[in-house]
Amino acid sequence: MADTVAITDVEGGVRLITLNRPEKKNALTGAMYDAMREALEEADASERIGAVVFAGQPGMFSAGNDLADFMGRAGDGFSASPALAFIRQLARTRTPMVAAVDGIAVGIGATLCLHCDLVYASPAARLRMPFVELGLVPEAASSYLLPLRVGRLKATELLLLSQPLEADEAQALGLVNAVLPADMLLDQAVVQAARLAALPRAALAASRALIRGDQAQVEAALEAEARAFDTQLRSPESQERLRAFLTRSKPAASA
Ligand code: COA
Repeated sequence: MADTVAITDVEGGVRLITLNRPEKKNALTGAMYDAMREALEEADASERIGAVVFAGQPGMFSAGNDLADFMGRAGDGFSASPALAFIRQLARTRTPMVAAVDGIAVGIGATLCLHCDLVYASPAARLRMPFVELGLVPEAASSYLLPLRVGRLKATELLLLSQPLEADEAQALGLVNAVLPADMLLDQAVVQAARLAALPRAALAASRALIRGDQAQVEAALEAEARAFDTQLRSPESQERLRAFLTRSKPAASA
């Protein structure tokens, strides 16, 4: 099996984390979460790596959590999942992170961007957070970070109504730094990551912490979400919605 997450260290102290499961639109499995978490842990521990770039495949950043994996998790729940371990690491990573988003970015594919220091998107980028539609709740501290960034009313459209966000609107809302042609996207993300990596490390770390605000609040939010997510993942309404997606059928009216 080809690596579903490719980790490449490129010039300029930049670590590239490339999602590589195109046949499933880069939906994330437990093994992929573990690979991404380890890549971030290593980046924080390394003096050589100064920034991380997340990238997907042409036209697809990520379809979010693998929904088959989720269905199978109803027993174990979300608390012990590789997804939550990744999310915890994502929120506490000290190495600057940059996202290069081309095409679909669903669920964690979108909420991951809220933790990135810089976000670049192609004109085809389309962010969507259909947690509630799936009988679930927001994750990765998005219920806290998104209202802070775009206001509570817009966050309600995005998180409760699962309204999609096109690249231009995401930029207008301040969720994306720039919209770039797809063939320039990754290069620009790597260039900007290398610029971050070249800055004096202590000054960068201190400034980054100041810009990012209250870390304890972010972690408290993601833990509160995780408890609610765990409950919902075990619920008949979410199991029915996940089943409906996987069997390409309509969910039962009661769910
Ligand atoms: N989990 C598991 N499999 C997924 C997936 C996911 N999140 N997203 C896509 N796939 C799979 C599909 O089941 C399909 O597999 P198959 O070819 O074996 O049937 C394959 O990837 C291609 O997906 P498809 O739906 O045919 O592609 P599309 O271009 O028409 O639509 C999406 C792409 C991402 C819009 C659509 O697949 C989708 O809505 N996925 C679910 C996203 C989601 O809800 N994520 C979780 C958020 S919490």
